[in-house]
Amino acid sequence: MLGGGRTTACVTGGNGYIASALVKMLLENGYAVKTTVRNPDDVEKNSHLKELQALGSLEVLRADLDEEGSFDDAVAGCRYAFLIAAPVNLHAKDPEKELIEPAVRGTLNVMRSCVKAKTVTRVILTSSAAAVSSRPLQDGDHVLDEESWSDVEWLKSKKLGPWAYPVSKVLLEKEASKFAAEHGISLVTVCPVVTVGAAPARKIHTSVPASLSLLSGDEAAFGVLKGIEMATGGVPMVHVADLCRAEMFVAEAAAAAGRYICCSVNTTVSEIARVLGDKYPQYDVKTNMLSGELLQKPRVCLSSAKLIGEGFVYKYKTLDEIYGDVVEYGKALAILPN
Ligand SMILES: NC(=O)c1ccc[n+]([C@@H]2O[C@H](COP(=O)([O-])OP(=O)(O)OC[C@H]3O[C@@H](n4cnc5c(N)ncnc54)[C@H](OP(=O)(O)O)[C@@H]3O)[C@@H](O)[C@H]2O)c1
Repeated sequence: MLGGGRTTACVTGGNGYIASALVKMLLENGYAVKTTVRNPDDVEKNSHLKELQALGSLEVLRADLDEEGSFDDAVAGCRYAFLIAAPVNLHAKDPEKELIEPAVRGTLNVMRSCVKAKTVTRVILTSSAAAVSSRPLQDGDHVLDEESWSDVEWLKSKKLGPWAYPVSKVLLEKEASKFAAEHGISLVTVCPVVTVGAAPARKIHTSVPASLSLLSGDEAAFGVLKGIEMATGGVPMVHVADLCRAEMFVAEAAAAAGRYICCSVNTTVSEIARVLGDKYPQYDVKTNMLSGELLQKPRVCLSSAKLIGEGFVYKYKTLDEIYGDVVEYGKALAILPN
């Protein structure tokens, strides 16, 4: 325990987008937090963590998923371990060596530290909807829930787009679950969809530029958004604050178990363009990018019924609400002009 008897939680990868938002929310809710970064001396990447220290007891430690035992100090004394850091290099030259193997090895590495700590009562693993919905599309509309797994053999044979990312998430989930069963760890896995909204982190490489691409005109970032729709039959979204609330919810709920899809809206690129066009007329939605085959409504929806059924309530339920603060955030990160 840190911070005078408060519950302590470890969040891996505190300089990342989602982890930075979770660190902030945990501190605001009275937790003492230990977070890890690979390079504590990188002032640009970590400056928000210094600011968050004003909110409560926050310790920043160095740890690397590739180094065995590196997380021992970070999880020592913690009740909850939120595993959020993961390799996310979608364009690795050698995806097996640079993404899949390190993702699985790194997850087990942190879990071994959790066993050693003897204080961790629950591990909350952040996987991805990519581990749920990357599989051949079937005809007609359909709804996927936690029983659905992305098809590793199909992904490895087709090697389309960033195929290794969903493979890494399926394999790390399965290995984590096996390890948890063997070592008597209570493991809960959250599968977030495309995550949008403001967070403390000031350097972003993932979903935020993609979600703003219709306003920024960034074609590579738009390719990510369109690629999600083409590969999975829709664009499922959640606000980062709801995702962090869901992470805390499944940590604290004694009965929580297994996987939880975290998704509040199933939408399409065309619908996002319509909503953004109405909401931000000053940005001129880049309709020239809306060429080719686009869906008018999702062919595949991801269901959050399990999470909701266990009592979780989403705060941001419409695209309009999900996009409430991300434009200001995009300006602060220079993704959008001021
Ligand atoms: N954003 C989304 O829409 C979304 C949706 C579903 C799931 N997720 C999952 O959520 C998690 C966080 O994603 P994010 O969007 O917040 O991405 P992010 O900002 O890129 O964060 C990734 C974090 O992982 C760390 N990391 C990577 N390799 C590492 C290693 N070898 N050792 C230690 N740390 C390492 C990074 O640290 P460095 O800065 O040092 O590289 C960074 O802190 C990931 O597991 C991602 O797959 C994200």
